[in-house]
This record gives sequence, structure tokens and C-alpha cells, in this order.
Amino acid sequence: MTLLLSLLVPLVGLSRPSTALDTGSDIGRLPALGWNSWNAYHYDISQSKIITAAEKLVSLGLKDAGYEYVNIDDAWSVKDGRDPKTQRLVPDPDKFPDGINGTADKIHSMGLKLGIYSSAGTKTCAGYPASIGYETIDAQTWADWGVDYLKYDNCNVPKNWSDTCDFCVPNNDNGSGNYPNGTCTDDRDFCPSDYDFSKSNTAKRYAIMRDAIEAAGRPMLYSLCEWGNMNVQTWGNETAHSWRATGDIGPTWTRVKDILNMNSFFMNYVDFYGHSDADMLEVGNGQLSYAQCRTHFALWAAMKSPLLIGTPLDTISSDMLGILKNKYLLEFNQDPVVGGPATPYKWGTNPDWTWNSSYPAEFWAGSSSNGILVLMMNTYDETKTKIADWGEVPGLEAGASYEVVDAWTGKSLGCQEDGVNATVLAYDTAVLLVQDKCGGDEKSRLLLV
Ligand SMILES: *[C@@H]1O[C@H](CO)[C@@H](O)[C@H](O)[C@H]1NC(C)=O
Ligand SMILES: *[C@@H]1O[C@H](CO)[C@@H](O)[C@H](O)[C@H]1NC(C)=O
Ligand SMILES: *[C@@H]1O[C@H](CO)[C@@H](O)[C@H](O)[C@H]1NC(C)=O
Ligand SMILES: *[C@@H]1O[C@H](CO)[C@@H](O)[C@H](O)[C@H]1NC(C)=O
Ligand SMILES: *[C@@H]1O[C@H](CO)[C@@H](O)[C@H](O)[C@H]1NC(C)=O
Ligand SMILES: *[C@@H]1O[C@H](CO)[C@@H](O)[C@H](O)[C@H]1NC(C)=O
Ligand SMILES: *[C@@H]1O[C@H](CO)[C@@H](O)[C@H](O)[C@H]1NC(C)=O
Repeated sequence: MTLLLSLLVPLVGLSRPSTALDTGSDIGRLPALGWNSWNAYHYDISQSKIITAAEKLVSLGLKDAGYEYVNIDDAWSVKDGRDPKTQRLVPDPDKFPDGINGTADKIHSMGLKLGIYSSAGTKTCAGYPASIGYETIDAQTWADWGVDYLKYDNCNVPKNWSDTCDFCVPNNDNGSGNYPNGTCTDDRDFCPSDYDFSKSNTAKRYAIMRDAIEAAGRPMLYSLCEWGNMNVQTWGNETAHSWRATGDIGPTWTRVKDILNMNSFFMNYVDFYGHSDADMLEVGNGQLSYAQCRTHFALWAAMKSPLLIGTPLDTISSDMLGILKNKYLLEFNQDPVVGGPATPYKWGTNPDWTWNSSYPAEFWAGSSSNGILVLMMNTYDETKTKIADWGEVPGLEAGASYEVVDAWTGKSLGCQEDGVNATVLAYDTAVLLVQDKCGGDEKSRLLLV
């Protein structure tokens, strides 16, 4: 299959066209996979916790499954200022006795990559020195230390850098770039409909760091975290490898559905080298149940969001580990041939394109090298039968028979005519991989791209 596809679509996206963020490599071509300290430890970080996470990525088989970045989030530096001589940020010597460079060396020796964090403001969200006005120095510092990834947050923006109007979040952008019936959800001053968000001060703050990273000369994955403000979907791709679509996630079902609802409207902006980030994973955290964690992970993978584990790996349960290592979902997320995400093909409870956090889009499908992935989410607190009707799934033929694999168990469901009726537990998501067409003299595999 891989061979067939590569004959059909030679060299799709294998070399990055020259763009504003040209790091001359395949960095950021696929969604980032890794671990980040924030959801696991918040401010309470240290070199030993970072190194333990890296060692666990290796020993638990997560590195082999593709997870590669080990990202230090907020609160890694000395809080009360920069080095007075060099103006560089200074790693907290108590938390990071070997510095960020020494930590990076250890991470690299395990075959992993190191990420760092700052904010496009005067201070980070936790009140540590941040990078506005110091972009060149900071990018060079990180490059010198061997940093491979920057998460760039949006706290403590100086007054003169704020924007004069706000982005009106559409309540039913269907991804076409026009917002039929979009309504504003609060009464701030919203930008006029013809406003060019790529010229906003927010876009400029993030472009300055992009240029500083490029000038520093070490390829880095650049991850914007400006919370979906100023219509970042329309300029994120020229600025960075990924951009947060929304405000912060939390370890609650409400927040997972809220973000899923918002990001579901942004799938047309996702392709190679540009990913709408639904925020770091909460799998293993808070009160999220097993079924809710499966749904969270499956949909994040299907949307081609970056997948950054956010739980302490030294205490993770085997159930949660199993979710994070799901081969079918990771292969979909990291498909080297198909850049686009799965998209909703039917909302289910509500009419299509309804903006509703309680009942977001339930039926999703997307092409991949392995087949068509179909996801059916149960938003209810009771078991439901969800029907994957081939006639409704883009790329499949009504009434035809296909070989189907249950992506949670890896078990073949054999040839399924017309579709599959799946029993889906409360809050869970059925994930099917639809492969060869059955019957006839000759099996004809789906043309997937
Ligand atoms: C890290 O950087 C510091 C300060 O520049 C330097 O003294 C130290 O030798 C470096 N350590 C490593 C392991 O490169
Ligand atoms: C805000 O002020 C700083 C410091 O004077 C200046 O460098 C920067 O260009 C100003 N920002 C804008 C958007 O004018
Ligand atoms: C989105 O909505 C617009 C306007 O109603 C419509 O023209 C377009 O076809 C829709 N796009 C999709 C992908 O459904
Ligand atoms: C916009 O709202 C009107 C009235 O509620 C409805 O009839 C129409 O279908 C909506 N259009 C879209 C594209 O959602
Ligand atoms: C984002 O930019 C890359 C080039 O850097 C391009 O290949 C990709 O198609 C763009 N994404 C979208 C959705 O246009
Ligand atoms: C969300 O959808 C449900 C189911 O249709 C509906 O009962 C609820 O009122 C909707 N919520 C909002 C805020 O529109
Ligand atoms: C699946 O559900 C539909 C609708 O309830 C029903 O018509 C069909 O017979 C079911 N198929 C199977 C294989 O149970």
C-alpha cells in the first residue's frame, strides 16, 4: 500500500516549500509527539522530574511509539531577573543544577529532544522573566543550549502591544473561512469583518520570535500558545508549526468537550507543517474516566493536534499507557503521506455545523495510508448504539462491504456490508479502521488520497 501510494503521489510534502518559517528540515511536518511538564507538575518542576519523564518515555515504550519531545514548561528560570551582563535568562540552579544545556545533553543522549517555554510578554504566566524585547537574545540562548522546541505563551503583554479590537469567535465557522451566522459571545469591541488579523500586534509579537529563531540557526519546532486569539488559524501557518486553538485545557470532561467543539471548526486549516493545537493531553489526570480519556486521545489524534502527554509517567496506569500507545491512532496522527486531519461528517445530536460544547460533532472520518478512520463519539452518560453508515462516510460507498478493524482492540471485524453498528459506552468513542473492499474476484483497496 505504501508503495502504491508513493507511486500515485510521489514526494507529497517531503520537502518543505520555502515559507516564513523555513527551518530547512522536516521539523514540524507532522504533529509534535512528546511530554510536557505543565499538566503533570505545574510550577513544581526540576531537572530530575524532567529526566525521569525522559527515562520513562524510553522504558515504557513511548519513545518507540513515536513520542520524542520532552518539554519544560513555565518556571524553569531564576525569577528575579536576567543575567545583568549578558541579559540572558538564567536557569534556576536549584531546580536545574546542570543548567538547561546539561539537561539537554542528557535528553539528547537518550535520543530525545528538549523543549523550552517563554511568553511573548514581559513575564511568563507564572511571573518569570519573558521574551518580549529580548527575542534575539533568548532565541540565541536556547539555540546555544541545544533546545529543539519553543512553546511561546501569551501572558503579560505590555499595553502598547495590545490589539485595539478582538476576534469575534464564530459560532458556526464550518472551516470555509466565512462565518455564516457567526455571533459574538460577549460585548467587547470586535474587529471589523474585513480586518487583516495577520497584521495584528499579536501576529507581530509571534512573528518577531519566529524570525529570531530562524536567525539563531538551530532548527526548532515553534509552537504558538496565544489561546486562539486574533483568528490565529488564518496566520498561524505562516508563523509557526502549530498554534493553540483555544484557552487552556483542564482535566475535566466539560473542558475536553469545549475544546473539541471549538477545534472541530478549524480542521480546514490543518495540513503538513501547520497544526491547530487542541492543547496538551490530560489523559491520566483529574477525574477523567477511562472512556473519557479514550475519547480525548482519539479525537486529539484524529484532529492531528500535537500530542503532548501531561501526566507523571512514573505513576501512570497501564490503562492510560495503553491509550497513549494506541498504534492505529498514532499512525493516523503521524501519517507520512496524508497531511489532512479527520473531519466531522455528521454532528449527530445537533444539526451539522452547530456550535455546542455539550454536544459537539460526534461522527468523524479521515483518510490515511492505512485506510479510512471512522470515529463515533458517545456524548451521553449511557451506552448508545452508533451507526457507521458507509453511505454517509466520505470516501466509502453505500451498500459496499469493507474489511474493518476495531482500532481499540486491533481485532478484525471481518467484512462489513453497509456499515457497522457499534455499542459505545457512556462518553467513549468507537474507532474503526475501514480497509479493503470485500468481495468479487479481486480485492480492491480503497484509494485513500
Ligand atoms: C552550560 O552552560 C554553562 C554557562 O554557560 C557552562 O558553564 C557549562 O559548562 C555548560 N554545561 C554544559 C554541560 O555544556
Ligand atoms: C512598545 O514599546 C516598546 C519599547 O518602547 C517598543 O520597542 C515596541 O516597538 C512598542 N510596540 C509597538 C507595537 O509599538
Ligand atoms: C460552509 O458554509 C458555506 C456557507 O454556508 C458553504 O458555502 C460551504 O460549502 C460550507 N463548507 C463545507 C465544508 O461544508
Ligand atoms: C443561518 O441561520 C438561519 C436562521 O436561523 C438558518 O435558516 C440558516 O440555515 C443558517 N445558515 C447556516 C449556514 O447555518
Ligand atoms: C501550511 O504551510 C505549509 C508550508 O509550510 C503547506 O505545505 C501547508 O499546505 C499549509 N497548510 C495549509 C492548511 O494550507
Ligand atoms: C446544545 O445542544 C443540546 C442538544 O441539542 C441542547 O439541548 C442545548 O440547549 C444546546 N446548548 C446550547 C447552549 O445551545
Ligand atoms: C444496525 O442498525 C440499523 C438501524 O437501527 C438496523 O436497521 C440494522 O439492521 C442494524 N444492523 C445490524 C447488523 O445489526
